[in-house]
Amino acid sequence: MIIEPIIKGVVARSAHPAGCEQGIRQHIDLVSRAAPITQGPKRVLILGGSSGFGLAARIALTFGGAEADTIAVSFERGPSEKGVGSAGWYNNIYFKQHATAAGRKAINIVGDAFSTPVRQQVLSAIANEFDGQVDLIIYSLACGVRPQGKDDKMWHSAIKPIGGNLCGASINLQDDSWQETELTAASDREIHDTEKVMGGEDWQQWIELLILHNAIAPQCRTVAFSYIGPQYTYPIYHQGTLGRAKTHLHHTSDELNQKLAPFNGEAYTCVCKALVTKASVFIPTFSPYLLALYKTMKEQGVHETCIEQMQRLFNSKFYPQAQVDAQRLIRMDDWELSSSVQSKTLQRLQQMNSDNFREVGDYHGYKQEFLQLNGFAFDDVDYEQHYCIEQLQALTP
Ligand code: NAI
Repeated sequence: MIIEPIIKGVVARSAHPAGCEQGIRQHIDLVSRAAPITQGPKRVLILGGSSGFGLAARIALTFGGAEADTIAVSFERGPSEKGVGSAGWYNNIYFKQHATAAGRKAINIVGDAFSTPVRQQVLSAIANEFDGQVDLIIYSLACGVRPQGKDDKMWHSAIKPIGGNLCGASINLQDDSWQETELTAASDREIHDTEKVMGGEDWQQWIELLILHNAIAPQCRTVAFSYIGPQYTYPIYHQGTLGRAKTHLHHTSDELNQKLAPFNGEAYTCVCKALVTKASVFIPTFSPYLLALYKTMKEQGVHETCIEQMQRLFNSKFYPQAQVDAQRLIRMDDWELSSSVQSKTLQRLQQMNSDNFREVGDYHGYKQEFLQLNGFAFDDVDYEQHYCIEQLQALTP
């Protein structure tokens, strides 16, 4: 079979293995040529390491100067009679091949990071491969559900405004259409449950588990990712259910910072730039902002993707000393929130509508980045190549 992109709404239902490898290769190349990460960690655990910021952090820390070994946990689908599997599945495979060839350890644990078996697999991997301790834990999960721990009940996140309804437009990547949407205000239960899924509670439990098992190395650090954004996106993000969850995450980093103090360790939240990832295209009414932001940041020469954000984080804002603001947050959204970027982005948003969004915003770049996340739209990949499921199943993460 030939593998083609299948998109349902804003979700990719196929992935191209050779394109995923090409993405990994390009990112390795980029960080190898960038200003190096100095005094970085050697043993890194990444929760959510198969795509987006987690994968970019893994590539940066392995190939961007620190020469770290990594254990990455992710929730991905392999090939089966139902389909070729997810991009993250192939990212795990090809990252490992390249890291191993470079003499680095790369352990992939595929399963539910909230579950006890996966937590045990991580502890065993740390014991067996990392001499029992980690120097850095990156918490980069993005998901919609979290098990409550008792029964089979789950908390479900709801991406909604708080205190009133919100009208806006979302972009459907399947047919490149602009769709007006009205979101109802979140209920108290939805606010609570979103905080449970996307807040800091699970991050805290992971760190407590690692402390309990003596797996925290001296000077160990941990970091999770957040978003604040400009006022324009406050109703759907910062002042909505997601923002509540992120505020919880920020408080958690302060608590974890105290818990790690006996190890001379540190915990941080890093506020990142808005970027196209599997998770962010899912946020309703957010995509027009991304289109306008991309066009402006590219025009002003300050656009970064996940890989550039992570390399800059670790080479200049995290090691050797973390650079924080008055709220103890690391700000990787500094370029996004600069007044020159914001004023031009807002101008574009005021002009943007269903007829002109492709030209006023960077729809081409947005769509291309989405396709590339799934292994498509690379110039130098042979998309006519035939694959069979058995051949793909022979590749293991
Ligand atoms: P992503 O969707 O690209 O990556 C999420 C990762 O979590 C994947 O590796 C996935 O396999 C893993 N995962 C999801 N559920 C899991 C589970 N139950 N068990 C194990 N692994 C699981 O997402 P992205 O965008 O990189 O998000 C990571 C963090 O960065 C999130 O906290 C997000 O809010 C934050 N962030 C994202 C921004 C953006 O614009 N994309 C901006 C600022 C922060």
